[in-house]
Amino acid sequence: MGKYDFDQEIERRGTGALKTDSLQERFGRPDLLSAWVADMDFATPDFIRQALIDRIESNPILGYTIEPADYRPAIIDWERKLHDWEINPDWISYIPGIVKGIGMVINVFTKPGDDVVIMPPVYHPFRITAVENGRHVVNVPMLEDEEHRYQIDYDSLEALETEGGLLLLSNPHNPGGRMWTAEELARLAEISKRKKLLVVSDEIHADMALWGKRHVPFQTVSEDAASNSITFCAPSKTFNIPGIVSSFSVVPDKRIRDRFYGWLAANEFGDAPLLSHIATIAAYREGEEWRKEMIRYVEDNIRFAEDYCRENIPGVKALRPDASFLVWLDCRELGLSHAELLDLFINGARVALNDGEMFGKEGAGLMRLNVAAPRSTVEEVLSRLREAVSKLNKNRK
Ligand SMILES: Cc1ncc(COP(=O)(O)O)c(C=O)c1O
Repeated sequence: MGKYDFDQEIERRGTGALKTDSLQERFGRPDLLSAWVADMDFATPDFIRQALIDRIESNPILGYTIEPADYRPAIIDWERKLHDWEINPDWISYIPGIVKGIGMVINVFTKPGDDVVIMPPVYHPFRITAVENGRHVVNVPMLEDEEHRYQIDYDSLEALETEGGLLLLSNPHNPGGRMWTAEELARLAEISKRKKLLVVSDEIHADMALWGKRHVPFQTVSEDAASNSITFCAPSKTFNIPGIVSSFSVVPDKRIRDRFYGWLAANEFGDAPLLSHIATIAAYREGEEWRKEMIRYVEDNIRFAEDYCRENIPGVKALRPDASFLVWLDCRELGLSHAELLDLFINGARVALNDGEMFGKEGAGLMRLNVAAPRSTVEEVLSRLREAVSKLNKNRK
């Protein structure tokens, strides 16, 4: 038994949680068990909540605030310890969210009509942000190997005819859960540099490497990578504080940094709200024990989901991720259309998961299960799915 209780069930309905209180609007009915959007059903760790309470209680004025002296050292020490990544303090800037950061980079570094390369199936705001800003999305779909692991399609990247633009990388990959090796990243960096594609490496899931694996920060793999990239990080996923925006960027190249950070400064986007830095420092200074326990619990949940599907749900396979708490459920053997699959999950099982096609048509037949929840919740989601699939199979006979 560890120090923290991840089995605790916490009612989120009625708190304004996106995960529970937007079901009618997003899934067409309110009575679903939620295992979709990527936040955790675990309590945000006590040392982070306490740091926020301490600040609010220690002084009644919540005024404009300056960056605490320990903000950059806390990030630098954390990244060095976890990822062997040496960051210079000048390379860091707060950003008001990673998706917003991607929108900003799109606006600062490209013009309407320019290319934004994405590798679907991938975190859907990559596509949406580019499209909504009038950029030209270039899809280079991932290849799927025999073990259902995604691989970067280097040949298609090589064949791109582009005048430059951006390449958006999910590292580790959401929703496929792949962690990229230094060799894979270095090859991507070389091609991107040659094709004049500035790489945005979204590393929000980096601190949740599973099964003893190690995350490789894109910037560290080569000179091509360091001189042609912007990396986005955050403690938000790992420590369950996405409601407190805590993201930051890391840019080693001075030319890119001057352009991006100059624009952030001109618009005051690099200035954080009062509680962001406090939460980040608490997470990075006090969070290692919690992070390790949380990862062990998530790993057990993943094993549980794998076993449960194999033993009880014919036609549904849980694909093991290298990192984070999002598990691809491969439902392709059920042979359902997109509408039928959604109906099975929403109206049959009454569970809310992210549907694979959100991430691109390459996600057809897959559903994304969030296992950052008490075991009892994961079990209930899968048990409802088992019943719905069994009914489906009976009806087919
Ligand atoms: C890959 C990835 N990037 C970014 C985000 C969201 O980041 P933010 O809330 O800072 O915009 C998520 C959330 O699910 C994500 O999975």
